[in-house]
Amino acid sequence: MAEHTDAKQRQLDEHRVDDSDRALTTQQGVRVDHDDDSLTTGGRGPTLLEDFHAREKITHFDHERIPERVVHARGAGAYGYFEAYDGWLSDYTTAEFLTSGERIPVFVRFSTVAGSRGSADTVRDVRGFATKFYTRQGNYDLVGNNMPVFFIHDGIKFPDFVHAVKPEPPNEIPQAQSAHDTFWDFVSLQPESLHMVLWLMSDRALPRSYRMMQGFGVHTFRLVDAEGRGTFVKFHWKPRLGTHSLVWDECQKVAGKDPDFNRRDLWDSIEAGRFPEWELGVQLVDEADEHSFDFDLLDATKIIPEEEVPVRPAGRMVLDRNPENFFAETEQIAFHTANVVPGIDFTNDPLLQARNFSYLDTQLIRLGGPNFSQLPVNRPVAAVHHNQRDGYGQHYIHKGQTSYFKNSLGGGCPAVADADTFRHYTEAVSGKKIRERSPSFQDYYSQATLFWNSMTVVEREHIVAAFRFELGKVVDKDIRARTVHELNRVDHDLAARVAAGVGVPEPGSGEPNHGRTSPALSQVAAPVRSVA
Ligand code: HEM
Repeated sequence: MAEHTDAKQRQLDEHRVDDSDRALTTQQGVRVDHDDDSLTTGGRGPTLLEDFHAREKITHFDHERIPERVVHARGAGAYGYFEAYDGWLSDYTTAEFLTSGERIPVFVRFSTVAGSRGSADTVRDVRGFATKFYTRQGNYDLVGNNMPVFFIHDGIKFPDFVHAVKPEPPNEIPQAQSAHDTFWDFVSLQPESLHMVLWLMSDRALPRSYRMMQGFGVHTFRLVDAEGRGTFVKFHWKPRLGTHSLVWDECQKVAGKDPDFNRRDLWDSIEAGRFPEWELGVQLVDEADEHSFDFDLLDATKIIPEEEVPVRPAGRMVLDRNPENFFAETEQIAFHTANVVPGIDFTNDPLLQARNFSYLDTQLIRLGGPNFSQLPVNRPVAAVHHNQRDGYGQHYIHKGQTSYFKNSLGGGCPAVADADTFRHYTEAVSGKKIRERSPSFQDYYSQATLFWNSMTVVEREHIVAAFRFELGKVVDKDIRARTVHELNRVDHDLAARVAAGVGVPEPGSGEPNHGRTSPALSQVAAPVRSVA
């Protein structure tokens, strides 16, 4: 049963190095008797270029840092295992790790989104929840968040969104995602973000512990069975310990006293043998029902309400081992939404499609070239053979004359089609090429209202207080007013309470709300600018 977990650990063991009490050498294995003084002329003369040891040591140090992730820079991770419950998903997918019940090794990285690597854990922010499954059929990455929706529904807006979210360019303050003008300017002009903004102002943005946090795949993905039939799927992680949050006052104090609060909690509980556990759940939708919802399944700003499609338990995940070395493992791990295995496929969600480009692209620079999948933490336990060669950081010595397909000389890698081969889901696609989102994506308010209506009195108080705190920091009064105006389309009481706290007039209660009557993006009140 534990074979796969051990396979990953054995693979990692091959790369472990214990330098302690070993004679000091250079990178070339030459022993060095002295490490404190550089080579100089006399005791007081100039340092000599000839000192290869000093040059090598300082050069390596100069290159110790790699770029931090452009988002989700701060994180903490751990190894563990996943096991599927009794194989019932085999009716829907050929993904063996979801059906075999075997223990599959995993690495999970939790993260904040906006802050830099050295920022505090307990800021108001979305949390990343990324899982790499090292399966027999290859690596599968479920790169999710702790909230089930996203701010935008098309990846082309992601650079704009992140520019608005990151600290203000002139002074790089503040680290908090949501306490400045650019963030609120962006969201007030992009009403599709409102649903997620409500999640962000809720206590979900202040997790008490990574162990007590839900996770969501966010997008609608596709399961594919042995006959090539597809079923839409949403993935959910539910923590065994329940979902718990801090309150804002605690967050601010903890950020000062222990900026490592969440990562310390994860590390300490695993060291103490209190292994965190999550249940994987799936919402399944028959392809025939694709258009039977009052929102678009391809719109990542929407949930599928659990009353309409229940979450069915599919397996459990336990994290039971801390990494040996933060840089080698937690920092160098590379998640990618396009890392899929047979039986799991994409949908045409335009946010997902952009992600499928972005992750590999960014990792090429972050991890220095095209061979980062050879790094121990990224290496699949599945066999890897291909005709890709050379490049920065190549660790393998490939034998043979041929590295191309097809060849008549022998060697190279022939392509094989069997039960473990990935076959793209064959989807019929038609339509004109247009830069225009379907009207089915343009209901910006209904689910934001649904979220607000589902909150208890206390939760609402926290949301209102969060809006007052964050939006109240915005200098530009027009941005505050525009945000309140948008909130008024979600709920008048919410808007009125926020307005009173941020010093803008209360909007009228007769605003056209809701759902399909909402204005198209082009009609949203935006500042008019002339173009030179
Ligand atoms: C990193 C989740 C949307 C680009 C991450 C990470 C998570 C995540 C969890 C951290 C992975 C880690 O721990 O290493 C999500 C979710 C999204 C979303 C749930 C929406 C549903 C996007 C979009 C783009 C994007 C639309 C670009 C078009 C990136 C990039 C990184 C990243 C470039 C850094 C990756 C690296 O350096 O290894 N995202 N993201 N994300 N995300 Fe996303």
